[in-house]
Formats: sequence, structure tokens, C-alpha cells
Amino acid sequence: MINLNEKIPLVDLNDGNKMPVLGLGVYSICGDKLKRTLKSALDMGIRLIDTASFYQNEIEIGEFIRQAIRDGLIKREELFVITKIYPGAEMANPEKAIEGCLKRLNISYVDMMLLHHPDVNDIKAYLTMEKYVNKGLIHSLGLSNYYIKEIDPFIKKVNIKPALVQNEIHIYYQEKEVVPHIQNLGIVMQAWYPFGGRGYTNNILNDKTIVKLAQKYNKTPVQIILRWHLQRNVIAIPGSSNPYHIQENLQIFDFKLNDKDMAEIALLDKNEKHDWY
Ligand SMILES: NC(=O)c1ccc[n+]([C@@H]2O[C@H](COP(=O)([O-])OP(=O)(O)OC[C@H]3O[C@@H](n4cnc5c(N)ncnc54)[C@H](OP(=O)(O)O)[C@@H]3O)[C@@H](O)[C@H]2O)c1
Repeated sequence: MINLNEKIPLVDLNDGNKMPVLGLGVYSICGDKLKRTLKSALDMGIRLIDTASFYQNEIEIGEFIRQAIRDGLIKREELFVITKIYPGAEMANPEKAIEGCLKRLNISYVDMMLLHHPDVNDIKAYLTMEKYVNKGLIHSLGLSNYYIKEIDPFIKKVNIKPALVQNEIHIYYQEKEVVPHIQNLGIVMQAWYPFGGRGYTNNILNDKTIVKLAQKYNKTPVQIILRWHLQRNVIAIPGSSNPYHIQENLQIFDFKLNDKDMAEIALLDKNEKHDWY
């Protein structure tokens, strides 16, 4: 059992806010399964939930959070909820998209809102999100699926520097140039597909080097991988609807990979992207 008193560390954002280094991604989880998953995650100490308008589960997440607050399980300020607005129609009409997220979640404010992808209207959408920061309805801003060629011109055109960039990052797609570049801008990097994403986790969790290190540290492959992300200062949002997996994913704060083993994992990079964006 995880020590429930052991807090998940927080990382400082460039806007003065803080967020947990580990959260729960809820893409494709909905209905009763979502509510069961959120309850398990909350009980185990998860405080960061990553959703998006695209995931179509904001209403259920909001209902769960309001009920958990009413039941005294959590205070609003103890949770960190990320949502995202989507390219195309949403970014073309950002005010409507942002209001939609706020209304569907209905949890007073959103801790962080991201642009889900670059888009012709992304600057306009981001500048509109800034207005909601000024109103206190969004606390932090960030981007997703931005690489060096997009981020450099982007930050010159906005007033509030993004606090976070959420990108595909895993042992076979390590983004060795992108990660330090964005971190050097004072922006926190967060990994989606930390285990390679559905359909790929089997390969990654059975990688020979990862399995060998799991035996060496008396940990599981997912724990070695999550620890590697965090030791690169890349925070992560593994997706899971299995309470045993969620618990396993949290048991990573009691060991440290040594430099040699970090370097060995660095060699596993294949520049192998598992999704198109
Ligand atoms: N910004 C973007 O464009 C973007 C794109 C994709 C995803 N995301 C975000 O990133 C999150 C994570 O992505 P993902 O869920 O697709 O991929 P992932 O976290 O790399 O992998 C999820 C898979 O790993 C399994 N898993 C989780 N913990 C495990 C454990 N301890 N042992 C064995 N298997 C385990 C899950 O199965 P079980 O359910 O059985 O545990 C699930 O099949 C999403 O939920 C979403 O919030 C963002």
C-alpha cells in the first residue's frame, strides 16, 4: 500500500502557481468507469486530473469533483484540473470554447487551460485565455503539441508566458532537443503517453533494459519509467482506469535511478512517435 501521508511533490510554475508532478490522464474514460477511477485516484492521493473539451468528459469530472467536495473528501484548492481547447471551431471562437469548458466543469475556476494543438487562431485563442486569467477563472496557461519551431515565435506574441507544455514523451520518443529547449524558457514539460500510449505499452513495459532496471531497483517497469521522466524534470499524466495500476504509478517517490542508469535509458530513444501530433 502506498503511504497515504506521502505527498506527491509539487513543481513551481513560472506564474507563481504550483502543480503536482504526477496526475491522472482521463482521455477515453467516461461514465461509471470514470467516476470509479476518479474516486480510487482521489483516495490514493492523486490531485491532478488532465482532461480536454475533446475528451467529452468534463461534465462528469465536474459532477464528481462537486460531489467529492460536498462529501468532505477534498477541498477545491487541493485539486489541480487541466483542460484544453481544440483547434478549428473552438479556437476560432475562443470565448465560447473557454466558457464551454468552465460551464461543463462548473468548479469555480480551472487550474490550467491549454491550447490542445497549434492552429491558425492559436494566438487569438491564447490572448482570450489571458483575459480569463485576469478574471481569476483560469489560474495558469499552457500549450500542448508545441515544438521548437512553434514555441519560439509563439511566446513573443503573448503577454503571459505559458507555464507548461504537454507533449508526447516516452522512452522511445524522448524529445532530447525539445525538452531542454522548453525547460530553458522556464516552462515545465509534461509527458502525455508516458508509457508510449495504448497499443504500445506492452513493448515499452517489456523493454529489456527497463525490465533489467526494474529487477535491479526492486521496482516495476512503469515505476522505472515514471522515475526516469521525473528525474528529467518531465512531469507526467499516465492514463489508467485500473486502481492497482494507479496505485503502482504512485510508488515512485522512495527510490532514485543513478546517473548511469538514466544514461542507459537515454540510449533507448528511437525517435519513434506514436501519434501524429
Ligand atoms: N495533449 C495531448 O494531445 C494528449 C494526447 C494523448 C494523451 N494525452 C493525455 O495523456 C494521458 C495519458 O495518455 P494515455 O493514457 O493515452 O497513454 P499512457 O499513459 O502512455 O498509457 C496508458 C496505458 O497504460 C496502461 N497503464 C497505466 N498504468 C499502468 C501500470 N501501472 N501497469 C500497466 N499498464 C498501465 C493503461 O491501462 P490500464 O487502464 O489498464 O491501467 C493504458 O492502457 C491521457 O489520458 C490524456 O490525459 C494528451
